[in-house]
Amino acid sequence: MPDPVTLITGASSGIGAELARVFARNGHRLVLAARRTDRLEALAGELAANGGPRPLILTVDLLRTDGCDAIEAALAREGLETQFVVNNAGFGLAGPAASRPRERLLQMVDLNVRALTDLSLRFADAMERQQGGLMNVASVAGFLPGPKHAVYYASKAFVVSFTEALHYEWRRRQVRVTALCPGPVPTEFQAIADTPDGEETTLMTTYADRVAEEGYRGLMAGKRLVVPGFLNKLVVYGIGFVPHRLLLPIVAQRQRRKGR
Ligand SMILES: NC(=O)c1ccc[n+]([C@@H]2O[C@H](COP(=O)([O-])OP(=O)(O)OC[C@H]3O[C@@H](n4cnc5c(N)ncnc54)[C@H](OP(=O)(O)O)[C@@H]3O)[C@@H](O)[C@H]2O)c1
Repeated sequence: MPDPVTLITGASSGIGAELARVFARNGHRLVLAARRTDRLEALAGELAANGGPRPLILTVDLLRTDGCDAIEAALAREGLETQFVVNNAGFGLAGPAASRPRERLLQMVDLNVRALTDLSLRFADAMERQQGGLMNVASVAGFLPGPKHAVYYASKAFVVSFTEALHYEWRRRQVRVTALCPGPVPTEFQAIADTPDGEETTLMTTYADRVAEEGYRGLMAGKRLVVPGFLNKLVVYGIGFVPHRLLLPIVAQRQRRKGR
């Protein structure tokens, strides 16, 4: 059988880099994918210096339609098989949807939805053979509509729905499936999403290392959903009781405070 590995997309910064550190600490051999090779190399060096095996680095742009093919081909070339897949790469773009560049919004759908769906399904048999699992990084945003961040919230709603359904479909396949749903986490995400004012810390803020740790433990325990932070859990629970016509202006107001 090929050697089992954990594939982590978007490992060059933020939550993905912390997930790489947690998986490495727990003895997993890693394949790290993103566009910025220098960042991936630095992280691989750090993990190797801490005594783990040096991760395989894959420089890949998941917006390219052949990005997922390139990952699969590289794994086959190296004699590796995905035991765990962590679909973490993603980005947002705040502001009224019709006033933002449509091309960029469609790229968001491509990365947050298309590439995530492809990698989830492409390695299903491998994850079953290796008795591993799938972690898809969603968001608290996946539980409600998001005026002023509409496409991002909708993309994360897809991730929550898709991942919960796979959790059920694969319950007899010995493949763990978890949607990791953080609230606000200070990373490069805010600058890329064009919400620099959203970097301020709030009661919902959790940090990437904690998010990664909780996500890892939840995945290994076979949890369907992991929502790090007490207040974020409360929000996700409470949202179910609030009609959307009341939620919409609240979310829009919150985005306005972030500078949009
Ligand atoms: N930060 C938050 O508040 C928050 C909250 C909830 C959920 N999330 C979710 O958490 C995940 C990680 O976000 P983060 O906060 O850690 O943001 P981040 O620091 O901006 O990290 C995003 C990662 O995605 C990678 N990426 C972006 N475009 C890519 C592409 N075309 N091809 C391959 N990789 C690409 C980036 O690597 P390269 O640029 O090197 O390609 C980077 O490693 C995302 O799915 C995000 O939606 C974030």
